[in-house]
Order: sequence, then C-alpha cells, then structure tokens
Amino acid sequence: MRDGTATREPIGVIGTGYVGLVTAAGFAALGSDVFCVDIDEGKIQGLREGRMPIWEPGLAELVAEHRDRLHFATDLAPALEHARLLFVAVGTPPTYSGDADLSAVHAVVDAMPASDAHALVMKSTVPVGTGESIKRVFAQQSKGFAYVSCPEFLKEGSAVKDFLEPDRVVIGDDGDWAGEAVEALYAPLDAPVVRTDIKSAEMVKLASNAFLATKISFINEIANVCEETGADVVEVARGMGLDDRIGPKFLQAGIGYGGSCFPKDVSALKQLAGNSGYHFQLLNAVIEVNELQKRRVIAKLQKHLGSLVGKEIALLGLAFKPNTDDMREASSLVLSARLQAAGAHVRAYDPVAEDEARKLIRGVDLASTAGEAIAGADAVVLVTEWPEFKTLDLAAVAEAMRGTLVVDGRNFLDPAAARAAGLTYEAVGRPAVNAARRSPWASAGATGPTAGSR
Ligand code: UGA
Repeated sequence: MRDGTATREPIGVIGTGYVGLVTAAGFAALGSDVFCVDIDEGKIQGLREGRMPIWEPGLAELVAEHRDRLHFATDLAPALEHARLLFVAVGTPPTYSGDADLSAVHAVVDAMPASDAHALVMKSTVPVGTGESIKRVFAQQSKGFAYVSCPEFLKEGSAVKDFLEPDRVVIGDDGDWAGEAVEALYAPLDAPVVRTDIKSAEMVKLASNAFLATKISFINEIANVCEETGADVVEVARGMGLDDRIGPKFLQAGIGYGGSCFPKDVSALKQLAGNSGYHFQLLNAVIEVNELQKRRVIAKLQKHLGSLVGKEIALLGLAFKPNTDDMREASSLVLSARLQAAGAHVRAYDPVAEDEARKLIRGVDLASTAGEAIAGADAVVLVTEWPEFKTLDLAAVAEAMRGTLVVDGRNFLDPAAARAAGLTYEAVGRPAVNAARRSPWASAGATGPTAGSR
C-alpha cells in the first residue's frame, strides 16, 4: 500500500454495517473525508461517541486513528453536499424464496435527488441485472445519476486487512467519469483492477462466493468418504492443496459453512439462475451437503452415547467462524436446536458471541468460560475454532467431564494429545481415536492398541 495521507476525493458511505464501516474507515485511512449515513440513530450516535456497533479486529483502532476524516449522520445531506461518489453498503438479506431482498437498496435509490454530478457505487451484494434496473429507475425519474458496481470481498474477522490488501478490485461501469473516479480511489492499494461491465462485476461477486462454498462442500463430502474408508481428510487436503490449480485455501473440512454471505449468496445465485430459466444443479448439492454436514455431529454423538435424552452436551464456540461475534447462519444454531430436540441439555461458551447468542438461541445455558461449559459434560463439541481452544489443557478437560467424548467439528485439536488425555476423539473425515484413559500405553505419541482405531 502506498502512503495514503495525501488529501483525496471525499466519499459518502450509506449503511454502517460490516461492509460500510470497514469501507469508510479504509478510505479514511487512504486520505478521504468519508461521510457515513445510517438510518439507525442509535448506531450513528454511538459511532460519534467512538462506540463500534460490531466486533471486528482492528476496526475500532482504524476508526479512532482517522476519526477526524469520518463524519456520521442520519441524513444524506452532508454526503450529497461533500461527495460525488456514494458507496451503498446496505443489507440485502435473503427472502423466504432465497432471492435477495433489495428493499433497502431501492430505498436508497428513491432517496437520491436529481443530479448529474453524483454516482451510486454498489458495494451491497445484489443479483446480476440490479445495476441495469437501477439505471432504468434513475432514467425514468430523470435523476441523471451515474452507476458503478464495485463488489466487496471482505471476510469477517480479517475485513480491515482485506480492505487494505485486496487480491483484486472489481469495477463494473459504463466507462464514464464514475468508474475512473472509483479506480483512482483504490489506486494507493496497488491491487490488480478488473474494469468490466456492470453485469459481469455483479456476477464476479456471486460466482466467487458460490465457488468458495462449493470448495467447502466438496471437501466436506471427501471427508465423509474418508470416514467410510479410513483415509484422513487433513492429509488429503494437504496433498490436494499443493497443486497450484487447486490451492490449499478453503479445503478445511468441518461442520459446514455459515455466516451472512455464503448461505445467502449461494441461494441467491441459484434463484437468479432459476429466474433466468437455468437450473443450477451443482448449487443445489452444495446447499444440501452443507445442511447435512451440520447434522452429522448428532449421529457421531449418538454412536458413542446412544440416546441423547438427558445427556449434558457442551458446545465450544457459537460464532459462524473465529474472530467475529456474528452468529448469522452459524452451524451452532442448527446444532443446539437439534440437540435439544433429541433431549440433550446444552451448555455453550463463546469468547465474544455471548450477547449475540442471547438474542438468537433459546434453551441453552451460556457459560462464561470454556471450563464452566465443559464441567460435568457427557460430550464436548468444538463448533468454532477460536484460538483459545487450541491451548485447552485436555487432561483437565477429561478430568472435568462426566464422559470422555470430544467431537471436533473443525479438526482443530491434536488427536494424539486428546488420546493421551484419555478422551475419545471424533473429528471430521479423520479416523476416530478411542479413549486410552485406562490403557497402559496411554502417553503422548504412544501407539498402543487403541491408537487410530475406529
Ligand atoms: C465470505 C467470503 O470469503 C468473502 O470473500 C466475501 O466478501 C464475504 O463472504 C461476503 O460476501 O461478504 P465470510 O462470510 O466473512 O466471507 O467468511 P469466510 O471466511 O469466507 O467463511 C465462511 C464460512 O466458511 C465459515 O463458516 C467458515 O467456517 C467456513 N469455512 C471456510 C469452512 O468450513 N472451511 C474452509 O476451508 C473455509
């Protein structure tokens, strides 16, 4: 990244969620004055007072550092007055049918005044064709606005880094001043820029998320076959990932993808294809595999514990992935509901998502430490690979539990250490390791008769 402290083009950002706030703070860091707008008065007031509405590593620091360039308001006037480019980062949640709900986007479009001097820059993930229909609305309303599609590729938990060090910047435009201006804004990041038409830019975003979700469902199915055949999916992924054409990323088998993006965007692309007359078969399988993957944990618990009625199950991690408090579409939601339906009592611990969990899950006791969740449990399920779980004292875990079963939903713990601690260890796509608590061969790295048995 080149030094971004020089004064640069001011921008507006409409919507101060994950995408909006990171984009705003990122451009402020590159030297722009950023005029943020949100209809949520509480959020805007909090931001003015330095309170973050979300937990995202490095974001509070970045906002604080560039506080003088960040301006927060509930109305559009300051953004329209000071900026030509208005980035739109409002939510596009799924509807019941799986289509994207574009009502917040349309509200922004309708709120724009007539102007030849402004452009909307779409950051929100929208179906292919949305830009074209927005341009049609602008034309019907004689508003004269320019339009740019500039999809975001930020990952929660590393969004600030992803903004400052992007793999690529995609800009879909009509070849007018607005596309040039957006490209100039990103220039200090020295990232490859894909300048293309609006529809293709919209498709790059949906296709990228759908491809990554497909990669995850693929490795999860390989993991399931590994469980049937005795192969180890971690070794398989290592061997596959060294092939340049495949790459090592997004080949971690687990209990399914979650979050506010993959589930929504995969079904939005499937619906978009269907609405356009094409049956996207592969995505149906990607979605189904992901749903079943969450539920396989129940079968693993039943394999060892029999009926789950009255059993105490501890869940470690609730967020859809580490380094975020976001629980949208998290595997923990399905898992906790299925466990309770099967008659189990569930205790759970997450290092940061406790407040979100209180809003989203019912009937689960929320512990304030991992130890509290584990104490007296018949089984422990590792749901989210928070770094602090890596350093769990497994001997203490075994001591505190009533049973010995640990189901590692993210292949995060060391199987040999689990076995040495006397735990029965079940992972995803790896040979199960039975408890060796009373085995004379039980010591770290020892290969007694129970090692690697299934
Ligand atoms: C995802 C994309 O990675 C971003 O590029 C994109 O900008 C973003 O969606 C979006 O559309 O806004 P995010 O949802 O934050 O980002 O999270 P990821 O890190 O991609 O993880 C998604 C899910 O996949 C998590 O539940 C994670 O546990 C799971 N996952 C990921 C796996 O199960 N295995 C893997 O190998 C990788």
